[in-house]
Amino acid sequence: MRAVRKVLIPAAGFGTRSLPASKAVPKEMLPLVDKPLIQVAVEEAIAAGFDQIGIIIAPWKTAIRDHFGPSPELEAFLARKGRTDLLESLRRIRSLAAITFLEQREQLGLGHAVSMGEGFAAGEPVAVMNPDTVYDGRKPCLGQLKAAFEATGETTVVLGRIGREETRKYGVARVEAAGGGLFRILDVVEKPGPESAPSDLGVLGRYVFTSAVFDAIRETRPGYGGEIQITDAIRILLGREPVRGVLFEGRRFDAGTPEGYIDAFAAFAAKRLRGGGEGEGTTRS
Ligand code: UTP
Repeated sequence: MRAVRKVLIPAAGFGTRSLPASKAVPKEMLPLVDKPLIQVAVEEAIAAGFDQIGIIIAPWKTAIRDHFGPSPELEAFLARKGRTDLLESLRRIRSLAAITFLEQREQLGLGHAVSMGEGFAAGEPVAVMNPDTVYDGRKPCLGQLKAAFEATGETTVVLGRIGREETRKYGVARVEAAGGGLFRILDVVEKPGPESAPSDLGVLGRYVFTSAVFDAIRETRPGYGGEIQITDAIRILLGREPVRGVLFEGRRFDAGTPEGYIDAFAAFAAKRLRGGGEGEGTTRS
């Protein structure tokens, strides 16, 4: 078994689709009911058994760093007021895992952001999770992906069914079924039109890469939108090593768009009102 212990969470993008909400507050700090998206992602990673988390931020996204850091005045205030419940919840955020902050100084795309984690990965396989893709299913998404990677030691990505109107939003895979919800990926195309999409399977925000991904990103030229796309790096990887896909059954929200964010918030709020806030087999805690 090839264990994977490290996860990268890219959170350095401009988040233009979430403006104006994301102007001064990073998109990754927008709340999903009572916790920011970035904390939801960190909790999913911890639930999946990752113990080293690298968050990639832009230099101005200090709120993300602050969220996981100490807040002495607030903590002293809560202690004076005897609010041990709140104090504990703040301290818990800090103690969640060993978090390393890495900087992406130029917003050159998701693939480029991931390459900022090469030193952090230090030759080991590494998971990548987009905090604005929120999963909600019976089994936690990143945990399923980790198990699939560890069974083979081969780069594995999460696939999800997408509608014909959604192909222009995602990388879309050409696959060969390998049984049991697993696929062998033959090709992947970034944001094709519905007529040229090779399937209805999108590559959706969760990956575990072998360390070969970093060479592949280095060789990736700017693609869609002039950005270094992770999809294009996966294409290069495909010429060198097998890449697998795991089909995730459950709900997925693209919280990086206003519509997806509203849907995610409404779904998680409804769950909270039903009394299923923590646990309930979701990806987030
Ligand atoms: P998106 O594709 O949603 O890009 O990134 P974005 O720049 O954040 O948002 P839009 O498209 O302008 O609305 C997916 C994830 O990758 C990170 C983002 O922060 C987000 O978590 N990312 C993206 C980076 O870290 N660096 C980049 O250069 C681009």
